[in-house]
Amino acid sequence: YRVPIGRRAIQTASSRIPNFAFAFDIDGVLLRSSKPIPGAADSLALLKKQGIPFILLTNGGGKHETERVAEISDKLQVPLDPSVIVQSHSPFAELVKGVDEASSLENKCVLVVGGDGDNCRRVAEQYGFKNVVTPGDIFTAYPSVWPFSKNFQDYYNTFSRPLPKPIDPTNPTKGLKFDAVFVFNDPRDWALDTQVIMDVLMSSQGVMGTLSGTNGRTDLPNHGYQQDGQPPLYFSNPDLWWAAAYPLPRLGQGGFREALEGVWAATTGGPSKGIELKKTVIGKPFQGTYEFAERQLLRNRAAAFGNDASLPPLQKVYMIGDNPESDIRGANSYRSDIGSSWHSILVRTGVYTGGEPAWTPKTITDNVQAAVEWALKSSKWT
Ligand code: G3P
Ligand code: MG
Repeated sequence: YRVPIGRRAIQTASSRIPNFAFAFDIDGVLLRSSKPIPGAADSLALLKKQGIPFILLTNGGGKHETERVAEISDKLQVPLDPSVIVQSHSPFAELVKGVDEASSLENKCVLVVGGDGDNCRRVAEQYGFKNVVTPGDIFTAYPSVWPFSKNFQDYYNTFSRPLPKPIDPTNPTKGLKFDAVFVFNDPRDWALDTQVIMDVLMSSQGVMGTLSGTNGRTDLPNHGYQQDGQPPLYFSNPDLWWAAAYPLPRLGQGGFREALEGVWAATTGGPSKGIELKKTVIGKPFQGTYEFAERQLLRNRAAAFGNDASLPPLQKVYMIGDNPESDIRGANSYRSDIGSSWHSILVRTGVYTGGEPAWTPKTITDNVQAAVEWALKSSKWT
């Protein structure tokens, strides 16, 4: 019997290849406001020692995957490879090249919103976007775009970049055309970000300083808005609430989106007038994010065990999360095209703390360590 190439030469009893894996949510499971949750480090260290594949599947972000994983490795004192993490905005990297030249955004001007400073701009550039503008750039170039962010000017000055050459020095935003708007992470200045996104959404063809469907009129409210080439709007995560340092959940990126949808509805008439805000929301609990995560898990598994016919198929993924709305709902509804089944495990260390959860998990445990122990026993691994 020859061990197929790519597999470890000596297969000892302890190096059995598991037909299962884990997906860990981060906030409220492994970390709470960047502080390790008891048992998190031991759980990841145990799986690494046993050679059991796992990924970190988070609606968080705001830094590049390499940077975020280095931080988590340091906090948990468990060496982790950047390939183990899927962040809310990780799938946006697939939009740089698009499916063809026409859909590529690589060289198009995109607005990137959210995160600290221009961290998200730099993540977008590391993904391959070459022409990224932030609301801070716009505010620094033309403060009257939003009269109430003057108190934050020093902050914006630390990272803003000049806008592309203005066609009208008296209005540097005039003619600035956006081909897409991305909310990468939780906005820090909801007011400025809402105003700038609305300027782009209400514009003609994504050109700031113009208004769509108005034949030159500029009275905004209920001006008979018609969507005229609105650039695509992407949100990286739907979380209305998440578990931060405060004992009660805090508003997440979903809170910002709901506020923006309120301004949209008041301005255009919104859904009640049949004018839905056209948008794409990714992240947990949506199918696309779980597909992206499973593909990454399969790549990591193949890299660890070799990708030959003898590799047992991945049959089960234990999804351990703290938020019924994103982690549990997503795992319960995910339909894998490789036939794996995702087993949702809800822990009590984050958003959920007890009572009847809005989405019913397969299993509930107090914390991540109990969840891993239960799963290993359920898989007859230990
Ligand atoms: O912004 C982070 C928050 O939305 C939730 O993160 O790790 O619990 O999915 P996570
Ligand atoms: Mg969480």
